[in-house]
Amino acid sequence: MIEFKNVCKKYPNGTLALDDVSLTINDGEFVFIVGESGAGKSTMLKTLFREEKISSGSLTVDGYDLVKIKNRQIPHYRRKLGIVFQDFRLFPDKTVFENVAFAMRVIGEPTRSIKRRVPTILSIVGLQDKYNDFPRELSGGEQQRVALARALANNPSIIIADEPTGNVDPKMSLDIMNLLLKIQKRGKTVLVVTHEKNFVDYFQQRVITIKNGKIVDDKVGGMFDA
Ligand SMILES: Nc1ncnc2c1ncn2[C@@H]1O[C@H](COP(=O)(O)OP(=O)(O)O)[C@@H](O)[C@H]1O
Ligand SMILES: [Mg+2]
Repeated sequence: MIEFKNVCKKYPNGTLALDDVSLTINDGEFVFIVGESGAGKSTMLKTLFREEKISSGSLTVDGYDLVKIKNRQIPHYRRKLGIVFQDFRLFPDKTVFENVAFAMRVIGEPTRSIKRRVPTILSIVGLQDKYNDFPRELSGGEQQRVALARALANNPSIIIADEPTGNVDPKMSLDIMNLLLKIQKRGKTVLVVTHEKNFVDYFQQRVITIKNGKIVDDKVGGMFDA
């Protein structure tokens, strides 16, 4: 469970990016987060993966108190999360297989379990034929699916995607959204920041709208109305 209680985030330059945000996201939910550019969406996600500390209020994720968490606990905490960015952030000189495997190696997963698990994950995202390709040999949509596979590598309970279709063409964007939904149906909590009004209206999921750092709307089956 993710729980924001009266969360404010003020950047050192004085910008109040989150202004008294309170909200609960239960395990297994699918949530779209929408709002104008500069509304505070990325900041909200950054506080979740603890790239940014909140300035006041409380934030807990699956029993981790992100105000009190010690720096040495953060890597362990982050294993709960699978993170996907707009710009993919793949290693250009590693193959598809190695991009996904790397995420497992860094946490010390044994080679035999990597060899078993990477193909399974690549099949989930439909890239079972692309093991040995390099990112530059793939389309934007395929690269984003590799990023999604990498996010899934360590079996996180929460997937966080910040405008995952921002650099992907419209048809591929639908694939990515469907895939995120499929991942939710497999039991994960999925948070997606997006500008894609069409998808938000079509998928009829919970929609949280942020404006000037405040939550101005939060409803299931909601429409994109930022
Ligand atoms: N590192 C930072 N330092 C100062 N201000 C920031 C920083 N990151 C974001 N902001 C500001 O915080 C506000 C919210 O930004 P952001 O969360 O990136 O919005 P969104 O993702 O909705 O476009 C904006 O006014 C932005 O300029
Ligand atoms: Mg953003």
